[in-house]
Amino acid sequence: MLVRQELSYYRTPLLRLSRLERAFFPRDESRVYAKYEGANPTGTHKDRAAVLHVQRALEGGFRVLTAGTCGNFGVSLAYYSRMVGARAVIFVPRRYTLERMSELRRYGAQLVLVDGSYEDAVSASVRAASENGWYDANPGSINSRVSFEAYSALAHEITWELGDPPDTVVLPVGNGTTLAGVHMGFSKLRGLGYVERVPRIIGVTTVHGNSVVDSFLGGMERAMPLRRVKETRYNEPLVSMISFDGDAALAALRESGGSALRVTDRAMVGYSRLLRELEGIDALPASASVLESLRFLGEGTHALVITSRWHLP
Ligand SMILES: Cc1ncc(COP(=O)(O)O)c(C=O)c1O
Repeated sequence: MLVRQELSYYRTPLLRLSRLERAFFPRDESRVYAKYEGANPTGTHKDRAAVLHVQRALEGGFRVLTAGTCGNFGVSLAYYSRMVGARAVIFVPRRYTLERMSELRRYGAQLVLVDGSYEDAVSASVRAASENGWYDANPGSINSRVSFEAYSALAHEITWELGDPPDTVVLPVGNGTTLAGVHMGFSKLRGLGYVERVPRIIGVTTVHGNSVVDSFLGGMERAMPLRRVKETRYNEPLVSMISFDGDAALAALRESGGSALRVTDRAMVGYSRLLRELEGIDALPASASVLESLRFLGEGTHALVITSRWHLP
């Protein structure tokens, strides 16, 4: 089909982190891998969701797509929309000084600045989609499952490379979409009889507030909205007052027997430096936060999903 030809896609590398293994597991046979999503064309895992949303939009006859964003997803959506001659209308919180704003412009996105938070930008985008008949690519929207499906490919690729699912998969958490999608991927593989078990899923986020992780650690049934969060330069992809796919992520953490961790900005930046120094891998601090798990993991095979390279200005 024409759309598929225009938007071909490739795998990202699964890299063995042997120096980190020696540093964190000096006495056992543990293996640690990075699924490096920084290798995607726009530098983040959001490309996976954007490709599939653009495909679905074109298949459904839409020529305009919209999403609210703090940066990464908007850049991906704009990049792939332009590739097929569609228009991306991206809603951005006005007060954010987005490091990736110039890329949004370069890829021809129509920007709408919104007074308020990321959550307000998503709500404004959802409203605009329904009023104007645009394709809604927002997390938590009617097309949420498209993102889950896109991220489920991470589970397939990791399993294909290792021959078996790892014992643990560690992901950074914002809305919970990526984590829920990866869990869905492993569950499907088990449902189809390709693998026997689903890995334990660990979610890592900021100490400054994330609805999924705070609800999980607080023993809540559902992902509860937080009253107050603190956005910083480093935690912005992870901090979340309302996690739009929070219930699905919470279920994934529980069903997989997983756990959740919170990391300071200082630690995230430290892990980013460590990844660069030991393994030569360029990772956004929020993405490098997954290294926190290495302090707690037992012996086994562990896959860390590094969601983004560091887009230095
Ligand atoms: C680089 C990066 N990592 C992780 C996340 C969190 O992903 P999710 O919102 O699917 O939980 C985001 C979300 O914006 C992101 O941009």
